[in-house]
Parts: sequence; structure tokens; C-alpha cells
Amino acid sequence: MTTRVLRVDAERPDPQAIAEAAAVIRRGGLVVFPTETVYGLGADALDADAVGRIFAAKERPPTDPLIVHLAHVGQLSQVAADVPPEARRLALAFWAGPLTLVLRKKAIVPDVVTAGLPTVAVRVPSHRVARALMETCGVPVAAPSANRFSRPSPTRAEHALTDLDGKVDLVLDGGPTPVGVESSIVDCTVSPPVLLRPGGVTVEALRAHVPDLKVGASSGDVATPQPAPGQLTRHYAPTSRLTLFDGETSAVQARLAAEARTQSAQGQRVGILAPEEDVMALAPALAALAASGRVRMQAYGRRAAPETAAAALFDALRTLDADEPDVILAAGIGAEGLGAAVRDRLTRAAEGRVVHVDG
Ligand code: TXA
Ligand code: MG
Repeated sequence: MTTRVLRVDAERPDPQAIAEAAAVIRRGGLVVFPTETVYGLGADALDADAVGRIFAAKERPPTDPLIVHLAHVGQLSQVAADVPPEARRLALAFWAGPLTLVLRKKAIVPDVVTAGLPTVAVRVPSHRVARALMETCGVPVAAPSANRFSRPSPTRAEHALTDLDGKVDLVLDGGPTPVGVESSIVDCTVSPPVLLRPGGVTVEALRAHVPDLKVGASSGDVATPQPAPGQLTRHYAPTSRLTLFDGETSAVQARLAAEARTQSAQGQRVGILAPEEDVMALAPALAALAASGRVRMQAYGRRAAPETAAAALFDALRTLDADEPDVILAAGIGAEGLGAAVRDRLTRAAEGRVVHVDG
């Protein structure tokens, strides 16, 4: 199929473009659209065949359930059987916005959406394009991130096109997505509720409304939530082998410089993914290797401002990966605020290759 691309203003989307996208959803087609977190790949959540096409386009295993997107909280009773008080509080505080709640599902939600689970993940996105689309099509929209399975989530329409051109009917291009990491997922079917994935709403903000929120087995580390279904599989993985270096900032910088020298001396083309502060600190030491093309550095926002790191992370990962380095050496940031989600995504991209560096 040919994928059509329509540019839309992120603040004031053209109603004609939205009407076209809504018509595609209503006839069982696939639409890529921007949300405040990342681009989604949407289909009518109540149409099992349409949802099946999402899995085919993404090459996503059927065991990985999808998030159902609603235009407003009023639609919740259509898909959720039970909304406990904690869920109400979180919905009231953070919708519309980057928070997903897992609730008991109603029978109307097809099993293909939830991977056969008795629960459904729902959220009300705040992005104007997403909201306009949802309001106009009038049905709940099932949408995973619009990347091919195991690729980094798309924060620009071009990322989605790289992965899905020819496999979806329409792409609404609303420019870069502001938050840059996916929604936080909270399981509200248990008490106290459990954070399954750190994301666009910080743990600190969630705890202001649900103080006893659980964030996973290893207590104290906000970056280690309990895995949601589908989260144990390979995720956010770049093509090059990525190793994450974590620890005291200057020690991490020194280690990155040493590793880059050693590995490039062994003939490896080295990519460095690090916050701007680290890239600036490393530039003098690695200038010669960078000039000869053996080391390439890619910044992803600022350590001092985790929201800039979240917004830039996936684009930086894709940019560096497109250069096809043999190895990627990445520096993490602190777990405060959106830093928890950034650390989670980098840890997944490293597939367990995390090196703790002591100062
Ligand atoms: O920000 C976001 O959440 C983006 C935008 C497009 O809304 N969507 C997104 O979807 O990240 P996706 O499919 O890439 O991740 C959804 C994850 C699944 O991998 C799974 O871990 C979890 O949500 N999930 C979905 N349904 C669930 C359920 N019933 N119980 C527990 N976890 C669930
Ligand atoms: Mg995803």
C-alpha cells in the first residue's frame, strides 16, 4: 500500500486532515499520529481485524498488549469494568496527559487488544492532534508506539516512516513530540497500585496522589519498576551493541574517554551517546578520533534538565544508529524526574550491558 503523509499544525490541526484520518480509522485502516509522548500507530480498538493489522505492520508479537486511547475520561466506562478510587484520583490529576492506567476490561474490548488479559491499559492523550482524531472518529483507538518491533519509539513522523512506510494508510505529521518518552503505566487492578513502566509522569508526581504507589521489587530505585507484559522482550534496541555506563559524572566521563580510545584502537567505530555536559567535557580529549571519523559523539539533552534528555533521547539514538557504529557507549543521567524514564529506556537498549563506574 502507499502511505499518505499529511502535515498538521500541532496546536491547531486542520479539521480536513483530521476528518480524513478519522475516516481511515472508521473503515478499519491504520493511522500514525502524534501524541505528547511518542507517535502512535492507531486503529479502531473495537475492531479485532483492524487491531490485527497493527500487529502485522509492526511485526509485534501477539503477547504484547496495546494501550487504548480515549478522547476524554467520559469514554472510560465503555472499556473499563471497574475504576477503583486510586485510578479515579490519578485520572483526575493527570488526564489528559502521559499516564496509562491498567484496569479490569469490559467484554467489548477484543482479546487481540489485551493479549487475552482480563485487563485493559487506557489513556487520554493531551496532544491536540491526538485529541482531535479521537473526538472525530468517535471510537476508542488502540495504539502502540509507531515503530517496528524492538526499534526505538518514534518522536518524529520521519522515524515512523523509516519503520512503517508502505505498511500504514496515513501518517499525520505534527512535528516532534514534546515529552519524548512513552506514558507512565500504573496497574490499578491491585492495591496499592504498581508502576509498571516509568514514563512521562514522574514517580514523584504520581506519589503526590497515591503515596503508597509501588515501583517494583528492588526498593529505593525508582528506575526499576515491575515489568509490564511485553516489557521483558527486547525493546528500544539500536542495531549497534550499546553499553550503558552509570555512576559519578566525572568518573563516567573518564571511563567513556578511555573506552573510546581502547575500542577505536582495536578497529571499532565508536558511537558515544551522552548528555551535552559530557559531550562538551569529552570533546578536547577525543577531538583527534572524532576528526578521523573513528569516534562520533551524539548529545541527548542536558543532564541538569532531565526533560530535555527525555525529549531528545530516541531521536539521538536513531541518529547515532543510522551511522552504524560497531559499538555505542552511552552515559546515563540521574533518576530524578523524567530521568527515571530515561534510565529505564537506556537500560533496555543496553540489554543488560550496564557498567557501574565508581568515582
Ligand atoms: O506513550 C505511550 O504510552 C505510547 C503512545 C502512542 O500512547 N504508547 C506506547 O505503547 O508506548 P506501546 O504499545 O509501545 O507500549 C504499551 C505497553 C505494552 O508493551 C505493555 O507492556 C503495556 O503497555 N500494557 C498494555 N496493556 C497492558 C495490560 N493490560 N496490562 C499491563 N500492561 C499492559
Ligand atoms: Mg512501544
